[in-house]
Order: sequence, then structure tokens, then C-alpha cells
Amino acid sequence: MSLAASAQSPQRLNVNLDAAALAQSLSGKNYVNGQLVGSVSGKTFDVVSPATRQVVAKAAFGEAADVDAAVKAAKAAQKEWAKLTPRERGRMVSECGRLLELHAEELARLVCLETGKALRTECRPESKVLTDAFEMFGGLGSEIKGETVPHKSDMLVMTIREPVGIVGAIIPWNVPMMLLSLKVCPALVAGNAVVVKSAEEAPLAVLRIAQLCGQILPPGVFNMLSGMGPECGAPLAQHKDVGKVSFTGSVETGKIVYKYAAERMATATMELGGKSPMIIMQDADLDRAVDGAANGMRFTRCGQSCTAASRMFVHESIHDAFVEKLKAKVDAMKMGDPFDEATDIGTVISPGQFEKVKNYIAIGEKTAGAKAVRCSTLPSDAKLKDGFYIQPVLFVGLDNNSKLAREEIFGPVTCIIKFKTYADVLAAANDSEYGLAATIWTKDLKTAMDAAHKLEAGFVQVNQNVVVQPGLSYGGFKQSGIGKEATLEAMLEHFTKKKTVLINLN
Ligand code: NAI
Ligand code: MG
Repeated sequence: MSLAASAQSPQRLNVNLDAAALAQSLSGKNYVNGQLVGSVSGKTFDVVSPATRQVVAKAAFGEAADVDAAVKAAKAAQKEWAKLTPRERGRMVSECGRLLELHAEELARLVCLETGKALRTECRPESKVLTDAFEMFGGLGSEIKGETVPHKSDMLVMTIREPVGIVGAIIPWNVPMMLLSLKVCPALVAGNAVVVKSAEEAPLAVLRIAQLCGQILPPGVFNMLSGMGPECGAPLAQHKDVGKVSFTGSVETGKIVYKYAAERMATATMELGGKSPMIIMQDADLDRAVDGAANGMRFTRCGQSCTAASRMFVHESIHDAFVEKLKAKVDAMKMGDPFDEATDIGTVISPGQFEKVKNYIAIGEKTAGAKAVRCSTLPSDAKLKDGFYIQPVLFVGLDNNSKLAREEIFGPVTCIIKFKTYADVLAAANDSEYGLAATIWTKDLKTAMDAAHKLEAGFVQVNQNVVVQPGLSYGGFKQSGIGKEATLEAMLEHFTKKKTVLINLN
């Protein structure tokens, strides 16, 4: 499609705020080559609302044949897409962002329906990050440039950046729209075509995004498949024509996917789990730290965040006051119907996560010396009796070596661990196989800077805890992953290939 053609007002899809009806209209479909299509086999699976356990739609059960069709479409489209100038591509990505912004509320409602996350506290902010990412990356087209390299005077040496080709993106269910945008936007602006495999629990909002973007992008440039990991994710990660695999999810699955990419030397970015420490020093502003802890733990998302501050280290002198204030803060959060404007906390995603998180809580309760401090109140409305609601729990008295302090729970459960000295807490914070994020609260600049240097994490915050934002480089150390996302550097490093060109001027 020429830029002139894309500038002509495309046929816009109407905003549909009825999430249930919209879910039905997307039922059983993938988005391949600019069309909503059923799976090749015709098979589907259920999409279930975690708030009601009712089936809200079917999703296409993608398999190797669907991956082949999507990759074929992407391959054909990418050749023309890469011929556009980076700014032309960026302009279309920005235009997608503006269209998505018009649909922001609709997308928030759809992701609310399929994930059970609270509309006001989680789904609307996620829509905002989605459109921010399209806006930011859309403006970065002209930054895809190489360097001239000083060499001999009769030799011109330069580097150029080329698209990788086809990017295979595998995303999880916790913030599907945001995580999609951090992969698809830089991939597209850099001249790649993408095939996304959505999470089986949350295929709808991202499918709608692909369909909306399809009003602006040429067919085949942005394809969306739904399906299970082994049947659909694996053939995508293994496909010989996929030059780059971008994955977000568990460490366990990340290791499998990384091996698939390694088989053919495809590049891979892995955004994996975390067990992120938050240190509260004795001189911290306690009220601010408590606000930051509640936010950092993502209680409004039931703790379903890879960055969740799931290990809180609190100086012994302020420990009890901190726990009391944090409990009061979380008590004030209302659990309820995710669509209700008064609701702060919705449900966890699925029966599997519901059982897994409850099991961790049961283990914590049986751990010697540990005490579960339950916060907020389970909803009493009979309509919500089947929802996957889990009361937030603060565990006190746990050791950093306990199962709960070592493993990613991905639920509304945090461990609050007492410490005596800065040296002790630094060692404990770093004693984890993960290294995604870390936070410290202190008024002492020297301690803050020392911790910023010594904490083994890719994203360190001092006296604040904000969520991941486009423009801030994000990615873990240790088993939390490989590579960065969300920035210009990430786009250049992970979605282009660098070529060195030497021109002999004689
Ligand atoms: P998962 O890592 O298995 O799923 C993430 C994505 O990978 C999904 O799209 C899934 O279909 C796909 N996948 C699964 N197996 C695959 C395979 N063999 N080949 C290719 N793709 C595959 O995560 P899951 O099962 O949803 O959750 C399990 C745990 O993972 C959670 O309890 C949580 O601890 C962690 N997790 C971490 C996330 C993060 O943001 N870091 C996001 C989601 C889950
Ligand atoms: Mg899994």
C-alpha cells in the first residue's frame, strides 16, 4: 500500500463498547493476511471470563498449518513493507495508535472481560500504555540509521540497519495489549512483518488490535494467531522463516523457546519472570514507601506482574508499622466485579492460576514462623461467587530461603522480610535466581546510589515504584531474561540486523 493510499480515510470499524457482543463477533478467528479467518482445522477453544466462569467466545485453535499460512503472508508482505521509508512505516504505526486511541475504552472493556482485571485501575491504564507505545515508536522511524566508521582515508566504511524479516512474538495474558505493543511497534517500524501468538487465556483484545491496525497496515504485515503453547507457539518459534523470536512469559517456557530459536541461530529476546525485591530502609518516608509497596506489588492486578515487588525487605525498626500501614492501604481496596467503576481489584486469570496461588498460600501458612495477614474483603455478591477472587495476603515471618520467597507466585501474595543491616539486606535481595527489577526507599543519597549500583536487576527504582513505560529500557538480568524492550535502542538492537559495508574509493 502506498502512503497516499493509507492517507485516504480507510474504512473505520465502529467503536463497540459492548464487550460481550464484540467478543462474539471475533469468535473463532485468527487474523491472517488482513482477514479474520478460522483455523485451518476449524478447531476452536473456549475463552472464559474469570469473573463468571462463563464462556464469552471461542478462539481459533491455531496449529502448525495456521503458523505456516501466517508466516507465508508475512513473508510476502514484508518485501513491500521494507521498501517503504522508515518514516512512512512510522507514520502508519502512529496512525494505528490514533485509531487504537479512539478504541481505547472498547479495548479496555474487552481485556477486562477476558482477564478479569479491574477496568478502572488496570484495563484503562493498559490501553493508555498501548497507544503510547504506538505513538512513541511511530515517531522513531528516522532514527533507524547506521554509522560511518573512521578507517583508511581511501576507504568508506559504514554500517546499515536492515530488518530481520519476520518476527514471531509470543505473549502472555497478564498485560497482553501492552506486551504486544512493545514487540509489534518496534518490529513494524524497523521494517519487519510480525506473526503474534496470543496467550490462550486472553486472545480477544489483541485480535481486535490486529484487526483495527489492519485498516491501516498492508495485509500480511501484522498477523495474529491464537492457540496453545505446544501446538501453536512452538511451531512459530521453530519456523525456519522466522528470523527473530520475541517472548514474554515464564522462565520455564522461555528456556524451551530460546532453544527453538538457537536451533537455527535466530535471535531471541526473553522477558521472563521475577521475584523483585523492595528494600525499605529505616530512614524511608514510610507513607510514601507504603503507597509504593502497594503499587509495586500490583495488588490491583492481583500481583500478576513480572515486576511485582514480591519480596519486601523492611528494616526491623519500622517493620510492624509498615505492615500495619500496608494492610490498611490494601484493606481500603475494593474487590469486586471487574467492570464496576468502584472496583480496585478483580480476579486472577484462570482456574490453573487460582489453584497455583492458593496452593502457595497454603504452603506459606504451614511454614514455621510465618503468619498470613489477609487484606481487603472477598466480594459477597452472589453473582461473583464463581469468580477467581483471591484475597491479598502479606506474609510476615518468612525467611528469604523459604519457597514463597524464592519462587514466582504471580498472585496477590507478598513476603515481608525483616532485616537488620544494609549489608545483610543487599545480600538477601541479590540472593535470587531472578534479576528483573528492584526498588529501594531511603533518604540517604549514598545508600541509594550504592544500591543502584549493587542491586542485580535490570530496572532499579529509588523512592518510587512506577510501571514499565515506553521509553524506559526494560529487561532482566540473570534468569529474568535476555535483551531489552520499550526503547529506541531495543528497536535497533533486537529488530534490525547491522551490516558493515566497506567501499574502496580507489
Ligand atoms: P507461559 O510462559 O507458559 O506462557 C506464555 C506464552 O507462552 C503463552 O502464549 C503460551 O501459550 C506460550 N507457550 C507455552 N508453552 C509454549 C511452548 N512450548 N512453545 C511456545 N510457546 C509456548 O506462562 P503460563 O503458563 O501462562 O503461566 C505460568 C507462570 O508463568 C505464571 O504463574 C507466572 O509465574 C509466569 N508468567 C510470567 C509472565 C511474565 O510476564 N513474566 C507472564 C505470564 C506468566
Ligand atoms: Mg505454561
